[in-house]
Amino acid sequence: MAHSLYCSIPKKPISSIVISSPHIIFNSVHKFVPPVTPSLFPCRYCTWSSVSSSVAETDEHYRQSPRLVAKEYADLNLADKFTEDVGNLRIRQHVNPLRRALMIPAEAPNWKEVFGDATLPLMVDIGSGSGRFLMWLAKRNSSSMNYLGLEIRPKLVTRAEYWVNELGLKNVHFISTNAMVSFQRLVSTYPGPLMLVSILCPDPHFKKKHHKRRVVQKPLVDSIVNNLAHGGQVFIQSDVLDVALDMRDYFDAVPDKLVHVDSVDPSLPCDGDGWVLNNPMGIRTEREIHAEFEGCKIYRRVYKKVQH
Ligand SMILES: C[S@@+](CC[C@H](N)C(=O)[O-])C[C@H]1O[C@@H](n2cnc3c(N)ncnc32)[C@H](O)[C@@H]1O
Repeated sequence: MAHSLYCSIPKKPISSIVISSPHIIFNSVHKFVPPVTPSLFPCRYCTWSSVSSSVAETDEHYRQSPRLVAKEYADLNLADKFTEDVGNLRIRQHVNPLRRALMIPAEAPNWKEVFGDATLPLMVDIGSGSGRFLMWLAKRNSSSMNYLGLEIRPKLVTRAEYWVNELGLKNVHFISTNAMVSFQRLVSTYPGPLMLVSILCPDPHFKKKHHKRRVVQKPLVDSIVNNLAHGGQVFIQSDVLDVALDMRDYFDAVPDKLVHVDSVDPSLPCDGDGWVLNNPMGIRTEREIHAEFEGCKIYRRVYKKVQH
């Protein structure tokens, strides 16, 4: 979603986390709670191309957002090598995941070939976008966790893999696929425990008749819950309340297997409506940076698996 904005308040990055053990998935220090002003309207979902160039101030505003992304991910030092070597990346704004061509499940890779140690605990990010978020985590937790990004837009995966190679990371891999149809096959073949699944700012598909295109549907939720190791966690978030509520309903619907984290971990405080106040990962996703820059609240939930 590098070219899109939904909704801004500049904020300081939350302190870094280190995943030091498979049992400690989030080990964050919450030093900063952003002052979020609730917006009267759902967050804007605008594109770079739709932004009028006639208003210089607005233009400047939209230029700020990618700069903030670059700043937040400065540690990765990715520069513009991909553009120099391969050229500019032109990607479609939205994809219909129910297109027949996208309903073919991906083959599981040979995990021993894609990860340095395929027995490490696994985090899967569904809709990984540019992949910077997972690369940042992978760099910090290079010997304790593997990271798998599932992304429906192939060009984003091509670039992410280019960056992974450039960074020399052996614990992060991206697969171009529709997570709705491939998640089960992929994770069920992974040799290690599935410890964390994230679905962060999924495409909103606003129109009611398009809600079936939203990535979080019952079969995917069942598959996540069934494959998650005991103590494993699910992290969901959206800057669109309707999307967050939709996801929440699905994950709240399995209370015998998933508990919301505020009932077991007081270090992740929630607001009065049960939304986790701070991003527990220590780094914001790109969409999250754009949305907060636009003044949107991020609606988060974190669940923990309590039963096999
Ligand atoms: C709004 S972007 C968010 C990207 C990233 N998670 C973030 O927060 O910055 C949603 C991403 O999900 C991808 N996506 C949408 N439907 C998908 C699906 N069914 N399977 C895998 N990826 C999907 C889109 O291509 C897009 O990159």
